[in-house]
Amino acid sequence: MKTRGERYFVKLARFGASLYDKFLDAEPIRSRLEEIASDLVSKTVKGPLLDIGTGPGRLLAEIHLRNPEIELFGLDISDAMIELARNNLQNIPVNLQVGSIRQTNYDSDFFSVITCSGSFYLWDYPEESLEEIYRILKAGRSAYLFEAYRDINKEEFQIALKNNLRQLNWIRRLFGPLAVRESVKKSYRIEEIISIIEKTSFADNYFIEKIKLSGIPMWVRISLKKMPL
Ligand SMILES: C[S@@+](CC[C@H](N)C(=O)[O-])C[C@H]1O[C@@H](n2cnc3c(N)ncnc32)[C@H](O)[C@@H]1O
Repeated sequence: MKTRGERYFVKLARFGASLYDKFLDAEPIRSRLEEIASDLVSKTVKGPLLDIGTGPGRLLAEIHLRNPEIELFGLDISDAMIELARNNLQNIPVNLQVGSIRQTNYDSDFFSVITCSGSFYLWDYPEESLEEIYRILKAGRSAYLFEAYRDINKEEFQIALKNNLRQLNWIRRLFGPLAVRESVKKSYRIEEIISIIEKTSFADNYFIEKIKLSGIPMWVRISLKKMPL
């Protein structure tokens, strides 16, 4: 079976995970997670929140900074990423687990909010994974997936990327565009996202908005609501 990319993360060495974390730890790249955290905190006051594909855990830290009442959970298929997240989140109460969102051991109807940033496009089993999100989400609550999409407006994207890069050091200016273009290239077109969601229990209750993060118009916020029975 052709993998979408999750298996490269399963094999990721500690060094690769730290390099990923260090590379992204710079303004204006960091502001992507700050903006997502503010958005999520505006939607929830307390209760358990799951970040799927949490990577180095930076989104969870940003959420905690804005609202320490929210109970934090992070899941990632990569051992190395979870180890790094444990290190980065040492002073924050958080439940971190290695595993795939395709099948988890969380209770049904448990989470008040579920999110991910730049992870959905890597899942080898997106429909089954959305079904698992449906199972573990409380009825009446939503999941918000922040993802790049492929059919961007290329002209707008290039201008924004150029402006953004000006603020970075030479190494990020060199490798940043490659990394960003690669993630856009690997991501889904909006119609592909729709076709995945429509095969799941979220089929009648979803919403996809094009948004900018760090000023770059390459993102969608996918809102998936689990309706009460
Ligand atoms: C591009 S990184 C994004 C990390 C972090 N969310 C961020 O915004 O910086 C994608 C993450 O998703 C994780 N991942 C990929 N497939 C997964 C799956 N099926 N279940 C859980 N995590 C997964 C990877 O291990 C990786 O840490």
